[in-house]
Amino acid sequence: MDGPSIEEAAGILRAGGLVAFPTETVYGLGANALDEEAVRGIFRAKGRPQDNPLIVHLPKGELPAGLVLALPGSAQGLIEAFWPGPLTLVLPKGPKIPTAVSAGLSTVALRSPAHEGAQALLRAAGLPIAAPSANASGRPSPTRAEHVFEDLNGKIPLILDGGACEIGLESTVLDLSCEEPTLLRPGLITLEELGAVLGKTPRLGRGVMQPLAAGERAPSPGLLHRHYAPRAEVILVRGEGEGLVQKLKDEYDGAENAVILCADALMRRLLPRSCRGLGADERQMAKALFAALRGADEEGFSRVILQGVAEEGLGLALMNRALRAAGFRTIDA
Ligand code: TXA
Ligand code: MG
Repeated sequence: MDGPSIEEAAGILRAGGLVAFPTETVYGLGANALDEEAVRGIFRAKGRPQDNPLIVHLPKGELPAGLVLALPGSAQGLIEAFWPGPLTLVLPKGPKIPTAVSAGLSTVALRSPAHEGAQALLRAAGLPIAAPSANASGRPSPTRAEHVFEDLNGKIPLILDGGACEIGLESTVLDLSCEEPTLLRPGLITLEELGAVLGKTPRLGRGVMQPLAAGERAPSPGLLHRHYAPRAEVILVRGEGEGLVQKLKDEYDGAENAVILCADALMRRLLPRSCRGLGADERQMAKALFAALRGADEEGFSRVILQGVAEEGLGLALMNRALRAAGFRTIDA
């Protein structure tokens, strides 16, 4: 990502066009957040349901006027602690936010990304940038420019290539517009870390770690939609130790054309079955997960057997994505 390509991207954004760009979490598909027509282009390019609002990305520094109605005291401390970085805050929407961005809600999601290229683009454009993940709706989020190309080639004029995203899972989303801070999407910034700044651990939103009951109201529209799914069918296997290894083997042996995605340490115990290591620890597994789901499709597997982890720390985010990729099809060892 050199100066001229950032300038070109900024020009496209200012003219109402779309640009894909890297962040520290995943690639985003950006448009001028203050231009309703430009924002509509994002929904068209992704095939995104109209009722799913977008995150507005900001350069570091002062919050521009008119984006939020009020900044609750709780937001101030979190912004100081975690911005720029992978934390999105849902706040009462200000008058400058077009309806298409908030999908008609009275709130708006804001984040200031830590990625230097993303910050350079925000500065060059001189605009807040609305950006969902730059995948076709429903597919795993893109963690490399090639993934964006796969999904959106021909639909957008420019992809800024910043290599592989450092974190690999989308930002933590925290709703501060309701009485009690509520986690809507877990990410690298954990419940425990948020709690340390807030003085109290946030609530976990309904529907985040289990399916919503039929007719139950979703605290975030994103919870209603299918996500992160490769074409292959995904089964999530939860458990520990020998029981987990045995269940992964059983699932594989009972399926055709399957692959196991698991921690590196388990690979040797599963051989000679087809398996792909996601890494040595949860940080590495988070970074590798979406690319591995896409890779399974590319290799032509029809079933992915995914190893679960404990729902703590970053493991909560990994399991949130895994549960959704699996459409909540789980097996407990
Ligand atoms: O890491 C990230 O957050 C990436 C990068 C590009 O910054 N962006 C991203 O955007 O993941 P997207 O659109 O794929 O996910 C945004 C999530 C959705 O689940 C959406 O429903 C939720 O945030 N969201 C956005 N605005 C909201 C609002 N006002 N109230 C509740 N949920 C909201
Ligand atoms: Mg997304």
